[in-house]
Amino acid sequence: MKELKILAVVVFFALVTYWLVEPYAHGIMHKKVDTKSFAYSDLDETTKGVMSKTGDASRGADLIVNGGCTGCHSVNVASIPAAMDAVSAAGAFGVNPPDLSNTGVIYDAKFLAELIKNPAHALNVEHKFAPESGKMHPMVPFYGAGGDIDQEIADMIAYLKSISVKVEDVTPAMAYEDACARCHTVDFVNYTYTGKIPAFKSKKDELAFEINVLEYEDSLKAYMGKLPPDLSMYYLSRSPHYIRTFMEDPQSYLEGTSMPRVGVTADSAEKIVEFMADSADSKRHQRDEIGTYVIYFSIIFAILAILWKKEVWRDLK
Ligand code: HEC
Ligand code: HEC
Repeated sequence: MKELKILAVVVFFALVTYWLVEPYAHGIMHKKVDTKSFAYSDLDETTKGVMSKTGDASRGADLIVNGGCTGCHSVNVASIPAAMDAVSAAGAFGVNPPDLSNTGVIYDAKFLAELIKNPAHALNVEHKFAPESGKMHPMVPFYGAGGDIDQEIADMIAYLKSISVKVEDVTPAMAYEDACARCHTVDFVNYTYTGKIPAFKSKKDELAFEINVLEYEDSLKAYMGKLPPDLSMYYLSRSPHYIRTFMEDPQSYLEGTSMPRVGVTADSAEKIVEFMADSADSKRHQRDEIGTYVIYFSIIFAILAILWKKEVWRDLK
């Protein structure tokens, strides 16, 4: 009897400890965040003026150039080069501003409307740029070109949409490069802040490139307060759900973090998750393919084995 009581006490405390460690502590450490389907509905109020207008792409083209966007961003498809190389841009702004060729398809339109008017608010980093800190977000807001500012912003977005590739032509790498590469490396697939690392003709070129990367990192670190992590392993160490909801709103997991909400569409987000899956586990497609062959092989082998067994045992009844 005494032994049973001791056993009961031990079992009780073992279960309590297990509950504290597993469901309870786990639940606190890994917050459950649901996706809001990349709707950015907190921006509904401030962007309804822009969203109710029909944009005119040809006027938008002038505004993108004259409204100052191209003072900081390149637009490769329109043959507008970057004002500075990536390292100098990072020195000036903290990061290299992305090329605007596919902005219209990779980012959500409502998000873009807010971004153009009030970058720190759209990117959810107002805590870093509070007025009393005297710091301004490096992307200068668009204050209008003299007409109806909502109409002007709608025109710019219409232009950005008109020059973008079609949504089905956006590859995972394109979405990743546009929205994430300026802050993160992906060592496993040789990605750095300016995209895929090129093949070098000489050691000298390679070293010069590496020095540029280090210089870029100094600026990035100063801007973000820390060096953003390499993303090679995140697909495996977290979950697709985590990556999706984290990029939708980094603040929901890491309150006060300096990583902006980048404002991608749900489609771009899926492509970015896919890019991260492919880089973390580069052989996954081959593995799936080989898996099918292994199953076919096993079935054929099993049939042969049964036939062979029958053949051997036939006369031994
Ligand atoms: C003074 C320089 C400057 C100007 C002018 C400027 N930008 Fe930017 N832009 C930046 C910088 C810097 C970033 C990157 C900010 C970051 O990652 O924290 C950025 C980021 C962006 C992004 C990516 C945002 C994201 O969610 O990842 C888009 C799109 C963009 N700008 C569009 C525009 C448009 C359109 C205009 C013109 C209305 C414009 N920018 C004007 C500097 C500028
Ligand atoms: C303007 C710079 C910037 C951009 C753009 C950016 N990130 Fe980040 N990211 C950061 C910083 C800084 C951190 C570190 C956050 C911290 O620890 O507070 C971070 C952290 C992360 C983490 C780690 C989160 C964790 O649990 O520790 C992931 C995953 C991530 N980013 C994914 C992305 C993806 C995907 C994109 C593109 C959609 C992206 N980031 C774009 C700056 C950026």
